[in-house]
Amino acid sequence: MSAPPTTGTPTITRVTGTLAEARPLRDAGLYDLVRVGERGLLGEIIRFKDDVATLQVYEDTTGLAVGAPVVATGAPLTVELGPGLLGAILDGVGRPLARLAAASGDFIAPGATAPTLDPARRWRFTATARPGTHLVAGDVLGTLEEQPGFVHRVLVPPGVAGALRTLADGAYAVADAIGHLGDGTPLHLAQRWPLRTPRPVAERLPADRPLVTGQRVFDLLFPLAEGGAVAVPGGFGTGKTVIEHGLARHAAADVVVFVGCGERGNEIAEVVQEFPRLVDPRTGRPVMERTVLVVNTSNMPVVAREASVYLGISIAEYYRDMGYRVAVMVDSLSRWAEALRDIAARLQEMPGEEGYPTHLASRLGQLYERAGRARACGTPDRTGAVSLVCAVSPPGGDFAEPVTQASLRVAGGLWALDPALARKRQFPAVDWATSYSLHVETTAAWFAAEAGVDWVALRARVLQLLQRDAELREIAGLLGHEALQDRDRAVIEIARLVHEHLLGQSAYDPIDAACPVAKTGRMAALVVAALDAAEAAIERGATIDDLDLAGLRRAYAGLRAAPMALLAERAAAVARVIASLGDARGAAAEVRA
Ligand SMILES: Nc1ncnc2c1ncn2[C@@H]1O[C@H](COP(=O)(O)OP(=O)(O)O)[C@@H](O)[C@H]1O
Ligand SMILES: [Mg+2]
Repeated sequence: MSAPPTTGTPTITRVTGTLAEARPLRDAGLYDLVRVGERGLLGEIIRFKDDVATLQVYEDTTGLAVGAPVVATGAPLTVELGPGLLGAILDGVGRPLARLAAASGDFIAPGATAPTLDPARRWRFTATARPGTHLVAGDVLGTLEEQPGFVHRVLVPPGVAGALRTLADGAYAVADAIGHLGDGTPLHLAQRWPLRTPRPVAERLPADRPLVTGQRVFDLLFPLAEGGAVAVPGGFGTGKTVIEHGLARHAAADVVVFVGCGERGNEIAEVVQEFPRLVDPRTGRPVMERTVLVVNTSNMPVVAREASVYLGISIAEYYRDMGYRVAVMVDSLSRWAEALRDIAARLQEMPGEEGYPTHLASRLGQLYERAGRARACGTPDRTGAVSLVCAVSPPGGDFAEPVTQASLRVAGGLWALDPALARKRQFPAVDWATSYSLHVETTAAWFAAEAGVDWVALRARVLQLLQRDAELREIAGLLGHEALQDRDRAVIEIARLVHEHLLGQSAYDPIDAACPVAKTGRMAALVVAALDAAEAAIERGATIDDLDLAGLRRAYAGLRAAPMALLAERAAAVARVIASLGDARGAAAEVRA
């Protein structure tokens, strides 16, 4: 029997699930893209041993046999970045679902290809760079309108520089040359990017303003900075997906990239059906016009989820480079981590905690690192940001598990979800005692200017009230409610307003679903004023029964569904009840006299 050839066409020598071995493969690079078998299944080289390459196949390997040919493409897995991404629904490796389905029917055939960007579509390009000037990577060549009102800036790709020889206005497809450099290098509307590599920036900038979420509990207590990264751990049914969808719809971002790594079987189908129906309440335009959906379809193996997160972040960085504020939602990162675990197990790597590879924490760190605010390369000057919100689904809701713990170490914020609150249907079920944000100070000035109140002081007062409430409830739990004094009871009653109406927010009420910062500030200030008035009244001799706390509740609850046009009126109604709390002493003293 002769030894297998060491040169010649590489062929499959072994298949185990979605992993395959091929040889001889010597000159290819680690993470290079390969086409596997007769059907040309998509795969990546994830390990080399001499001339044997281990391939990670991103598609169903049923029917793949030893001896099948392998073609190395000589390049890593890349994404085509250009106009037409906004509004697209892509699978985990960047294939547009709509055009794939048109090409191969509802069930996507393995090995099916379709370019990420529609090659037939033409875009009206207006050149702004002038021939004769020297261009460097990141310089703006010109613009086109990608979606109604959305200016897509066409940039010189990373690694390209030279004198501009020609550049012309016109209607171009993404593969057409829109101009040339002096050395003949053609310029295009689109560029390719290896999705595991962060795109370069001129300078990373500190966070100095929030990404307004429209959720009172986050904007007031645990703000997300523009360019920040936050982890949202929560057990099943605690509201992670509702939060991610709410942010996609309401957060003050120019562009949203939503990466769906479904928890449940039908969740991705829901995403694909739901997003195209959503309307941006601020503009009245479809949310999809500024959204890119990356979904892991059920007929792609788990390991494709691993690539999908990098795909989403690369797209986000591309729009950041144009000078936009991009928000990336990942739902959920645990599915990404499980893909890593799957791959490591099949490679028989030494497992770390709970079977996750030992490099989980560093890979997670690299991922979160791609969030940030930055000055883009090139001219004119542009500042953009990629903010990252990653849902984490700890098995059994136990935050001690590796993905939550590793996220905690690298994220700038934690929105911890509490199953007890979710069971009480108190949403968003954010556990204020465990959650945190490292961006309170950096975003305070912006919030204060926007809302016209001292945001940090207001936040501190609300947290202090929650803290007192927790302590008093503990005492009441031990000694009975009778052990509480009137003042303590007033604190508990007013803290209830905070839990239910200030931090509680319905995702399904058209007004309450998104709260402007000014309204959040107003609602917080009113609750603090109510507390002060109630305490002062009791201090002056009023009893809890003298205080119209039921009236306060009714008036305060009316704020939630108040549109901005009605806010002043309803806030005045709350203020009147608060003023009457202050009067209670006088009234009570008169009655007693
Ligand atoms: N802000 C909210 N307002 C109203 N209901 C909510 C809210 N957040 C979550 N829910 C309820 O909780 C359910 C589970 O939420 P979901 O986001 O699917 O949980 P998870 O993704 O953590 O498993 C939702 O179907 C909804 O009924
Ligand atoms: Mg979910």
